[in-house]
Amino acid sequence: MAVTAIGVFDSGVGGLSVLKHIRAALPQHDLLYVADSGHVPYGDKSQDYIRERSLALTQFLVDEGAAVVVIACNTATAAAAAFLRERFTLPIVAMEPAVKPAVAATRSGVVGVLATVGTLESSRFAALLEQYAGSVEIVMQACPGLVEQVEAGELDSAATRVLVERYTQPLIARGADTLVLGCTHFPFLKPVIADLVGPEVRLIDTGEAVARQVVRKLPAAAKSGEAPTERFWSTGDLAAARRITSKLWGRAVAVDAP
Ligand code: DGL
Repeated sequence: MAVTAIGVFDSGVGGLSVLKHIRAALPQHDLLYVADSGHVPYGDKSQDYIRERSLALTQFLVDEGAAVVVIACNTATAAAAAFLRERFTLPIVAMEPAVKPAVAATRSGVVGVLATVGTLESSRFAALLEQYAGSVEIVMQACPGLVEQVEAGELDSAATRVLVERYTQPLIARGADTLVLGCTHFPFLKPVIADLVGPEVRLIDTGEAVARQVVRKLPAAAKSGEAPTERFWSTGDLAAARRITSKLWGRAVAVDAP
């Protein structure tokens, strides 16, 4: 009997940061990951465009046998989570910037949020602030260009460091002691961010919390004794996708067109 497959999608390779937590939490399940790198970034696209892409990717994962679909993208969650839940009956796990744990963690009373324009301008994000910010000052920082650096596998290049410094420095200058990595591409930049902001600034993302939510939402399923599989697809250039996905996933993997 097959194990239950978990389908995961993102605008690109960023969702692999979430997939790692899912794999750690669920070592027995098949994982299906589709990167929409042919249409990245989502951060500056219209809601309609992101909904249309999210619908196509979710349908693909369902057709491939996913029992749960994870939107491993803050931007797609803001634009399309409700839309997808109206159209599919299977559980859809979504993600949002870690404002709640950041507000609990800050000692300076200032939290910086690094995310895409699409996430920061969404009504979902406004509602999140309304619910959890309280008296904590939330400083928002859009990060154009940073997603593209991760897509190119440039996790530590001079150009990446320049962008990270440009986006984090104003937050630190405002007194932020906690930064929310509100885009799933950004955990791959953690070493550079930590290096530039210093060890006393906390970096928080929601990958682990999302993995716990996947565990809660999984339908009960029999597990086989076979080795669980991981399959990867990309709508982008496949040679580049193989190189970057293997680098970020930590071992050589095949990547196909969906
Ligand atoms: N990984 C997406 C997110 O979490 C990315 C953004 C993009 O494509 O702009 O928001």
